[in-house]
Amino acid sequence: MISLSDVSYAYPDTDHYVLSHVDLGIEAGTVTGIVGASGAGKTTLAKLISGFIPHVDGGELSGTVVVDGVTMAEVTLAEAVSHVGLVIQSPFNQISGAKFTVREELAFGLENLGVPRDEMAERVTEVAGLLGITGLLDRSPYALSGGQQQLVAIASMIIMRTPVLVMDEPTSQLDPGGTRMVFDVMSSLRDAGVTLVIFEHKLELLREHADIVHVLADRQLIASGPSRTMLADPRLEDWGIGSTRFTDASSIARDRGLLGKDVELPVSLDDAIPLYRDFRSAKGN
Ligand SMILES: Nc1ncnc2c1ncn2[C@@H]1O[C@H](COP(=O)(O)OP(=O)(O)OP(=O)(O)O)[C@@H](O)[C@H]1O
Ligand SMILES: [Mg+2]
Repeated sequence: MISLSDVSYAYPDTDHYVLSHVDLGIEAGTVTGIVGASGAGKTTLAKLISGFIPHVDGGELSGTVVVDGVTMAEVTLAEAVSHVGLVIQSPFNQISGAKFTVREELAFGLENLGVPRDEMAERVTEVAGLLGITGLLDRSPYALSGGQQQLVAIASMIIMRTPVLVMDEPTSQLDPGGTRMVFDVMSSLRDAGVTLVIFEHKLELLREHADIVHVLADRQLIASGPSRTMLADPRLEDWGIGSTRFTDASSIARDRGLLGKDVELPVSLDDAIPLYRDFRSAKGN
């Protein structure tokens, strides 16, 4: 569904590559997580997958990016966005600036596609319900909190029903409840067959929702694996990504001989529970 071959990229007026010889293959209907330290190039990669590079940012690009059968550099941005949606990192910048209410803002992209009014209204109601923003529909998109704007930004992309959705730190402005809701929405999109690529620092949630996780560091995708294995990998510390409290605590327990040497380290609470149960029974409690 998504294929990057030997992709290298430098921003305009710079003399260094942000990404160098990147290869990536993503299957349809999967959820892929991509992690990387600040400045590693996550946003750049998100813009490449969704055609914003080279159509908006320009710069020097080599290699090919194919999404949903379309070579991104060969089609217009208007064509690209019918295949892949991008939820950008800063929700404020996602707002069109052309509309006075959230309702109009959500309908904006559909209007451009010439979707009939009735259907537009139905889709706005549906997506607003999904993200819990029905109460905001008559408000100005600018008179919202950062978290509310982020939900509107996500909704404005989901409503387009593209087969591929790329989300660049989509929960950065949200509290834990809002974050969980957005991840639940991602689960239902996945059930509906949407291919998702999520750039996210919240490793426990990525563990729960992503099938495969890739690591971006040193201008390349340098490691990948199933979310449980990849997110418990001790090298994540060296790459500036960190680890979850469950991985940390279990790693200490293992070093002290309280857990078996070859135990698979947990990433989330769900991973940890069976492990700690074994640990308790071994101690005879
Ligand atoms: N428009 C631009 N022009 C020149 N350099 C840029 C531009 N945008 C980003 N960069 C540089 O490219 C590199 C990667 O930036 P990018 O925003 O992709 O990183 P990121 O992993 O998304 O970081 P963060 O976690 O902070 O969002 C950084 O060194 C950054 O300074
Ligand atoms: Mg970024």
